[in-house]
Amino acid sequence: MAPETGFMDECRARVDAELTQRLAISVPEAGPLCDAMGYSVLGGGKRIRPALCLGAALAMGQEDRRAVVPACAVELIHAYSLIHDDLPAMDDDHLRRGRATTHIAYDEATAILAGDALQALAFEWLSEAPGVTDSIRLRMVRELAIASGYLGMVGGQAIDLASVGREVALATLELMHRRKTGALIEASIILGALTAEKVNERRLGHLNSYARALGLAFQVQDDLLDVEGETEVIGKPRGSDAARSKPTYPSLLGIEGSRRHLAGLLDQAQQSLAGFGPEADALRDMADFVVARTH
Ligand code: IPE
Ligand code: IPE
Ligand code: MG
Ligand code: MG
Ligand code: MG
Repeated sequence: MAPETGFMDECRARVDAELTQRLAISVPEAGPLCDAMGYSVLGGGKRIRPALCLGAALAMGQEDRRAVVPACAVELIHAYSLIHDDLPAMDDDHLRRGRATTHIAYDEATAILAGDALQALAFEWLSEAPGVTDSIRLRMVRELAIASGYLGMVGGQAIDLASVGREVALATLELMHRRKTGALIEASIILGALTAEKVNERRLGHLNSYARALGLAFQVQDDLLDVEGETEVIGKPRGSDAARSKPTYPSLLGIEGSRRHLAGLLDQAQQSLAGFGPEADALRDMADFVVARTH
């Protein structure tokens, strides 16, 4: 098992501090809304997307300071996606990060609104990201909007729901995974790279290939953990996919087939970084972590 990298620990601490400070909001007349937003974002989480965002800035030969706010914006979209993913109308799960899901800790209406508000807040933060030009801000907003919407995360979730109880082709499963999970992971990396003082489009292309392989790998491992993980370790109910007849990589390729597929994707991700020096070491370590993670 790949241990969590020191880089990830450091990113998590920095991003958690920024998120905690930014989410210290209270609007008493809105009832539990702000509490539920904080509960959903701040209750743990590996912060993999933020770490990828910071790692991509480093891979562009930059310091990663300017990537912190974009990293937090991506994490808000992720948190919103999890709140809605757990709702009764979707996966109907009660446990997330070892705690009650947002609609259980609060109520369904509050959970829906907290997700909606987090989505809007992500774009608010991104639109005022410090240290980058307006044209880069606009490009980041566009990347994140596309990754979140009907051709990205939400579109992937729609394929997921439409596939319940069906046998889907491998190509459909891959498309679903690339959209529901891969798109946001790809956006994390692109946003981080875009914070570079001078965006080298050739390097950006290589990072894009890395991101595509890693984004898919992430959900393949998530599917494996749903079968093989321990509820106490993954912090969410094992067997949720099978209980809801979701098509997954293990259901199509079997455990061993899924593992082989994952190894191929890891190889692709690492190959994409072949032209980079030590500045991409954080991304190399993150790729190893993503495929070997136990939670
Ligand atoms: C879980 O994502 C949802 C998927 C897209 C598979 P993570 O495994 O990154 O969840 P947290 O943020 O660490 O809880
Ligand atoms: C979730 O996929 C993808 C998004 C939240 C967009 P899953 O439904 O497999 O995620 P978990 O396993 O509940 O975290
Ligand atoms: Mg789901
Ligand atoms: Mg789910
Ligand atoms: Mg899952």
